[in-house]
Amino acid sequence: MSEKLLPKQFINLSSVISRSNSPIGIFDSGIGGLTVVKQFLACLPEEKIVYFGDTARVPYGSKSKATVIKFALQNLRFLLQFDPKLIVVACNTISALALPLLRKETSLPVIGVLEPAVAKALEITRNQRIGIIGTIATIRSKAYFHLIYRRRREISFFARACPLFVVLVEENWLKGKIVEDICHYYLKELKKNKVDTLILGCTHYPLLKKIIRKEMGRKVSLVDSAEEVVRMSKEILKEGKLLVSRTKPAGHHFFFSDEVPNFRKISRQFLGRDFKAKIIQVDQNV
Ligand code: DGL
Repeated sequence: MSEKLLPKQFINLSSVISRSNSPIGIFDSGIGGLTVVKQFLACLPEEKIVYFGDTARVPYGSKSKATVIKFALQNLRFLLQFDPKLIVVACNTISALALPLLRKETSLPVIGVLEPAVAKALEITRNQRIGIIGTIATIRSKAYFHLIYRRRREISFFARACPLFVVLVEENWLKGKIVEDICHYYLKELKKNKVDTLILGCTHYPLLKKIIRKEMGRKVSLVDSAEEVVRMSKEILKEGKLLVSRTKPAGHHFFFSDEVPNFRKISRQFLGRDFKAKIIQVDQNV
């Protein structure tokens, strides 16, 4: 039914319906954000996803704040063209460094991965000792620290940058002696400090969960920011009556700023479906 034919009181409802069928825009510095996509496909399978991964300029984790903000704004503007109903910043580094500026750029809800992960960590810690691991830029920003302290001052907080973890995951080195040694090297202080909750503050780290769990021990709870951001997104969509009303399966789109070798294979193995990557340039309009 066209909007013109609707009685006035239904016009808003019609815009809500059309908005609810809009996609969820998700972006990351590269392919790591697929850990977030995976959770969306599992928990909100009817939602349409438009993903952008800045594979031409990854990694962001070793870049300056100014550069990360510039790239993040370009990525956001690219996704806004698809008229999304929600923007999810899958990248921890961008969430830590650029979220307030991204939120100024649009009136849409923009969710980063930090807030949901912190909420979960505060909910489950028993001894009030929380650890966080992430990229150099994320740890240097102290964004997790500030979020935690704003909510609960008595928390003891321990942070460690683990830059080699991204490289290991990109190389698909997820087990074996070298990986275990690196894991031990990075995590030993956190263990010594008796954290009972560890936030995996980077898109890539959920893929090393097994080995991190082995190093930290079963008593330490691992918080996967990918799982938590999907939980929070669902709540926001539900509250805003924006959950999709579509019944037929959604067609997702995956855009990247440079070639992703074997994307089809990666998507088949990791997301369980054969998605196609589209290459696009996003840095020319800013
Ligand atoms: N996506 C980044 C993050 O979650 C990791 C990769 C990078 O350094 O760009 O922090």
